[in-house]
Amino acid sequence: MQEEIGKKQKTAEVLDACRVLREQNERFFAETGRRKSAYLLTFGCQQNEADSELLAGLCEEMGYEITRDPNEADLILANTCAIREHAEKKALSIIGGFKHCKEQNPDLLIGVTGCMAAEEHRREELKKKYPYVDMVFSPASRHRLPLLILEKQARGKRVFCPEERDLSMPEGLPVLRESSYRAWVSIMYGCNNFCSYCIVPYVRGRERSRMPEAIASEVEELVKQGYKDITLLGQNVNSYGKDLPEAIDFADLLARLDRIDGDYRLRFMTSHPKDAGKKLIDVMAASMHVAHQFHLPLQSGSDKVLREMNRRYDREKYLATVAYLKEKIPDVTLSTDIIVGFPGETDEDFDDTLSILSEVGFDQIYSFLYSPRKGTPAAVRADQVPKEVKAARFDRLLALQNEIGLANNQKLVGKELRVLCDGVSKGNPDLLSGRTDGGKIIFFSGDPSLTGQYVTVTPMRADAYALYET
Ligand code: SAH
Ligand code: SF4
Ligand code: F3S
Repeated sequence: MQEEIGKKQKTAEVLDACRVLREQNERFFAETGRRKSAYLLTFGCQQNEADSELLAGLCEEMGYEITRDPNEADLILANTCAIREHAEKKALSIIGGFKHCKEQNPDLLIGVTGCMAAEEHRREELKKKYPYVDMVFSPASRHRLPLLILEKQARGKRVFCPEERDLSMPEGLPVLRESSYRAWVSIMYGCNNFCSYCIVPYVRGRERSRMPEAIASEVEELVKQGYKDITLLGQNVNSYGKDLPEAIDFADLLARLDRIDGDYRLRFMTSHPKDAGKKLIDVMAASMHVAHQFHLPLQSGSDKVLREMNRRYDREKYLATVAYLKEKIPDVTLSTDIIVGFPGETDEDFDDTLSILSEVGFDQIYSFLYSPRKGTPAAVRADQVPKEVKAARFDRLLALQNEIGLANNQKLVGKELRVLCDGVSKGNPDLLSGRTDGGKIIFFSGDPSLTGQYVTVTPMRADAYALYET
C-alpha cells in the first residue's frame, strides 16, 4: 500500500516536471518558430528498447519532437548496455562523437542512461573524460529524466543521479512505441540471480514485479489499439510475483492475460531454466494466444561449468524441461543463449555444449564469447580461456548450429504458416519479411500495405536462418 502511494507520487512528480518543460518548449517555439527535438540511441536488449520507448514518451510529453539526426537535436539520450565489453566500447565511441554536436550547439543537453550508466567506474569515466555529457542516470531512474533536466537548469551543473533508495517503478507514464503492431511490456525489473559472469543484477538492482492489474490493463489497451504481437519482458520472468503481496506466479499471469479477447500473440522472455516448470508449459499448451516459442538460455552443456556459473540447474534438468515442452507443444520453436569460453572451460566441457545442442535441436542460438565484467566473480578468475581458443570454439559452435537450424527449417518447407508481416525487407526491397507464429523470419512477396497484418505463407525453401516463399 505504502509502495503504491509512493509510485503515484513519483508519477505525479514526473508529469509535473514534464508540464514545466513543455511550457518552456512552447515558449521557445513561439519565439523562434522551431520546435526542439530529441534524439535517442538504444543499445542492448529488449528491456532497453522498452525503456527507450518510455524515454521517447517522456520527451514527447516535454514538448520535444523525435528526430533521427543527432546533429539537429536539442536533447541527445544514449541508452547503454553493459553486458559485454564490446557493447560498452561501442556506446562510448558513439558518445565520444556527440562532442562534435555539443560544439555546434552549446545549448544541447546530452544524457547517458542504461546499464553502463549504473556502473561506478563508468560513471567516473564519464565524469572525467566526457565533460560534455550533462546527465548520467541508471535504468532504475530512467523515468526521472524530466526532473534531471530541471535540476540541470536550476543548478547549472552536470547531474549524476545517485542510486535510488526506492527502486519501485512508477506506472501511468507516457510511452511512445516504435511499432504500431509489435509491443514490449515489462512485467518486472531487475534480477536476483547473480550468475557469476553477469553484470545485470549489479546495474538493474533487485527484482521488482509490476502489479498484475497494471500489466493486464496495458495489454488490454494494446490489443484494443490493434497490437498483434506482445512480448512480456523480464530478466527472469519465472520469478514474477515473488515480491508481490498476492499469491501469483508467472504462469498465473500468463493465463490471466491469455483471457483477453482479440487476434494477437503473447510472447515472453527470458525464462530461467532453473525454474521454468511444468505449470508454465501446461498454461502455454492450453492457451489461445501464447506463441509456440520458448527462449531458454542454456549457457553451457557442462554440469561443471553450469555450477561455476551459478546457474542452479544441470544438464539433466534442462533436458527434462525441453522434453516436457516438446511433448506438450510439439511445434514449439526453441532458442537459447550460449557463452563460449567461460573461465576454466575445457575442450571436454565445450564438447558437452556441442552434444546438448545436437540433443535438443535448437531452432536458433545466440552465442557470445565470454567477456569479463568488472565486479563479477568470474572476471577475477585466473583461468581465463585464451582468445584464440574461444574463437575456434565459437566457429565450431556456429558450424554445428547451422546444420541443426537448417534441418529444422527444412521441416517447415511446404507447410502453410501464419505470418505477421513486417513490411518491405531491408535486404531486398522486392520482398516482404515477417515472422511466423514460432518467431521465425520468413521472406515472401506481397503488397507493403500488408505490414502489421497476418498473412498465410507457404515456404518453398529454407536456410539456417530464414524461410523463403520462392
Ligand atoms: N536474463 C537472461 C539473460 C540476459 S543477458 C537470462 O538469464 O537468460 C543475455 C545473454 O547475454 C545471457 O543469456 C548470456 O548468454 C549473455 N551474457 C551475459 N553476460 C555475459 C558475459 N559476461 N559475457 C558473454 N556473454 C554474456
Ligand atoms: Fe544475468 Fe543470470 Fe540474471 Fe540472466 S538470470 S540477467 S544471466 S544474472
Ligand atoms: Fe545490456 Fe542491460 Fe540489457 S546490460 S543486455 S541493456 S539488461
